[in-house]
Amino acid sequence: MIPILEIKNGTKEYRGIPAVKDVNFTLNPGEVHALLGENGAGKSTLTKMLSGVVEPTKGEVYLNGEKLVMKTPLEALSKGIAMVYQETSLVPSLTVAQNIYLTDDKKFHRLRGIYIAGQQFLQSLNFHVDPTALVSSLGAGQKQMVEIARAVHHKAKVIIFDEPTSTLTPEEKEQFFLLINRLRDQGVSIIFISHALEEALEISDRITVMRDGQHVVTDMTANFTRDKIISAMVGRSLSGEIHGSSQDKKVRIAGEKVLSVQNLSMQNIVRNTSFSVFAGQITGMFGLIGSGRTEAAKVVSGVLKRNLFHGGQVRLNGRSIRYRVPRSAVKDGVIYVTEDRKIEGFFETMSISENIYLGALAGGRTKAKGVNMREMKAIAKQWIDALNVKAINGDARVIELSGGNQQKVVIAKALVQKPKLVIFDEPTRGVDVGAIVEIHNLIDRLADEGIAVLVISSYLPEVLQLSDRILVCRQGRIVEEFEGHKTDEETIMYAAVH
Ligand SMILES: Nc1ncnc2c1ncn2[C@@H]1O[C@H](COP(=O)(O)OP(=O)(O)OP(=O)(O)O)[C@@H](O)[C@H]1O
Ligand SMILES: [Mg+2]
Repeated sequence: MIPILEIKNGTKEYRGIPAVKDVNFTLNPGEVHALLGENGAGKSTLTKMLSGVVEPTKGEVYLNGEKLVMKTPLEALSKGIAMVYQETSLVPSLTVAQNIYLTDDKKFHRLRGIYIAGQQFLQSLNFHVDPTALVSSLGAGQKQMVEIARAVHHKAKVIIFDEPTSTLTPEEKEQFFLLINRLRDQGVSIIFISHALEEALEISDRITVMRDGQHVVTDMTANFTRDKIISAMVGRSLSGEIHGSSQDKKVRIAGEKVLSVQNLSMQNIVRNTSFSVFAGQITGMFGLIGSGRTEAAKVVSGVLKRNLFHGGQVRLNGRSIRYRVPRSAVKDGVIYVTEDRKIEGFFETMSISENIYLGALAGGRTKAKGVNMREMKAIAKQWIDALNVKAINGDARVIELSGGNQQKVVIAKALVQKPKLVIFDEPTRGVDVGAIVEIHNLIDRLADEGIAVLVISSYLPEVLQLSDRILVCRQGRIVEEFEGHKTDEETIMYAAVH
């Protein structure tokens, strides 16, 4: 069988250091091929070579057995190869429909036309996104849906999904898998990158694992198990470390009430919600996308403004607060670790050290007036080691890091501020299984040190694993509260949906 897409001896070097080294990879017609590996293994780089985003340093790409030279993603798209990126590539100032029909010159200029077409098209995919909404107003999950819709719209023969599900809720994931199956039935060939190994096992026909830029193994999915994938990814068995269950977890007793939110409202998204967060405890918040979790957190931390009248009360250690900018919140020790790292998380063209140091300066953690280079390097090194950020050193620019390692920098930048209350919004999105353990340990330690921690997550195992208590959010308000060790996935899901 001639593969529909193939790369032979694919190598990509950055400043002489290989991100991908001599990799052979084939995509067969009509298959779903999962590409797995730790953060920084080279998955995105390999697929970018297959979709015209990155030019290989060495090696050739073949489409249906014919050698292919693509200089741009648009060229690849015209040959039927589409990529849905890990970091969104949408134009934020345009609407959803405009983004989907962006390269459609004939349609693009007739707004009414594309809104009607967009509405029908999105509905056919079962995506609940308003075609007239500005992309900048969407949450991460909805942006991902628009990206997927755009690839499907272009009738691509090959679609590469780089972590498509990390921003989706369980229900949306189910829809997405149905969509993948539909595309496969239509003869579309799919590369699927994910850190959710269960998903890869469930949906793919074949699996390839990469490690340190190199090919480790390719085989039929039926021949893999979760543990087998993990040992291929990390080069050793991690099963004991990763399968930590919430059963044997000690439950922390609530300290003083650090955050108290009463009858908070923001437009129609947060509706009269009330909840508290206590010192020395992890409070988990679960809810579907659109349930107002992120928005409530953003109001508390000064990223968004609450309604002027009847907006409710927010108290920090009993004192009424109303932040207009995140800076004032940070000064008081209230920190929001964003779910949308590309936009709010860091300055992408600055180095890792500079980003972390900016965090330190914002939190008043350093006495230096202006920038103290030595201190900057020392603080950065401490965090790079603590979180195991994979980079040559602290001088690497954040934009050059793999997705999961960027997430670690976002977390470091927040924690260096010595917070009193930390709100993590989807802290392990796009992070590999090993690093999830590291980040979870870190969050646990924060609570042990007496900090009040709120973790917003759409990933139920994460909520259960971390939380001492769990709040469930539905349609803009907290509807139920559980003790962390006394509940299970079904109960929480039921509360979130009904
Ligand atoms: N533009 C760039 N400049 C320099 N180095 C880069 C660049 N892009 C990627 N790299 C490096 O190449 C390596 C592989 O990165 P890549 O993004 O392909 O990993 P990944 O497997 O997709 O990881 P993740 O799961 O975190 O998304 C990393 O060490 C990364 O730092
Ligand atoms: Mg990647």
